[in-house]
Amino acid sequence: MLPGKEYLDSKILIVDDLQENVRLLNSLLRSMGYYDIYTSTDPREVLGLYKDTKPDLVLLDLNMPHLDGFQVMEQIMEVEKDSYASIMILTAQADQKVRIKALEAGAQDFLSKPFDLIEVNLRIRKMLEIKNLNKQVLENNLNLEKAVQKRTLELQEKTLELEETRMETIYRLGRAAEFRDNDTGMHVVRMSRFSQKLAEKFGLNHEQCEQILHASPMHDVGKIGIPDRVLLKPGKLNAEEWEIMKTHSAIGAQILSRGKHKLTKLAKTIALCHHEKWDGSGYPNGLSGSKIPLEARIVSIADCFDALTSERPYKQAWSIEDAMKEMDRVNGISFDPDLMKAFHEILPDILKLKNELPDEERRGSEPRGEDLLI
Ligand SMILES: [Fe+2]
Ligand SMILES: [Fe+2]
Repeated sequence: MLPGKEYLDSKILIVDDLQENVRLLNSLLRSMGYYDIYTSTDPREVLGLYKDTKPDLVLLDLNMPHLDGFQVMEQIMEVEKDSYASIMILTAQADQKVRIKALEAGAQDFLSKPFDLIEVNLRIRKMLEIKNLNKQVLENNLNLEKAVQKRTLELQEKTLELEETRMETIYRLGRAAEFRDNDTGMHVVRMSRFSQKLAEKFGLNHEQCEQILHASPMHDVGKIGIPDRVLLKPGKLNAEEWEIMKTHSAIGAQILSRGKHKLTKLAKTIALCHHEKWDGSGYPNGLSGSKIPLEARIVSIADCFDALTSERPYKQAWSIEDAMKEMDRVNGISFDPDLMKAFHEILPDILKLKNELPDEERRGSEPRGEDLLI
């Protein structure tokens, strides 16, 4: 009646205040083939011994001095909070109340004294089988958890990478359009940051401000569709050329029109409406006042300020004072007066940003393109 060999190297802890019982059980177990056996006759040292040895099975007496079996079980259950403790009670008592109490305290089974070799053997084997199954389940859960964590981390990294790529593409697209007539490309970076600041000041929520930051660089993407003879023409545009230049809003909206994402939809709105004017004299649709989408009203101020205060191949940079004077002149004509008020209030922040984002080296002198659109 030997136990299955797979469990013979299990660790077993025997706790009984009677040395005689301990000795008897120890030799019984050894005769069955178990060898990794720990014993204690002092319940006060069980907790330490348990932590040190991490036994697969505890054979525990109930009636002991200093600490009884229930108190010892309480200590063990505390250690094994998230795990499984395998405890078998050694008892001479057949009292059902005591048995139920022991089961409730965490015991799984009972061994009746005096011990019967066959019964001890079968019950211990059963307990070790259960313990082993539990160990496997715990290990599987742990491995599964680790695998899920690893996959989640990988997914987060991929998502971040995708987001970064998307953002970079947006900026590159915006810069591609700028590059044709304004060769440094920093304009889109600055005006998008100014737009974000103005949106924040105007009380838009964090997500809206972020969306404006990322959508505004595409405001002039439609310039891609303007022929060189117009976009790169030195000197003033004639009426016909000017009409062609004005189509960049609609072309930009068309380029962005198939986008399903919220950001692309906003970029389309901004591209279409960034030359609308507060008094209705803008293009392409002659919208006025609050009929012009707020985001486009914000972007038109940020765009204009940066265009005026930056050097272009065909003009010097205006001083901040001159630029603000000009923008104030067209306040209520081109710009939303409430937004202009907010823009005045954040001017120190805008200038700080402008200093942090200077133009890169120019490619050389280029002919003029789109004139300042105010
Ligand atoms: Fe434009
Ligand atoms: Fe612009």
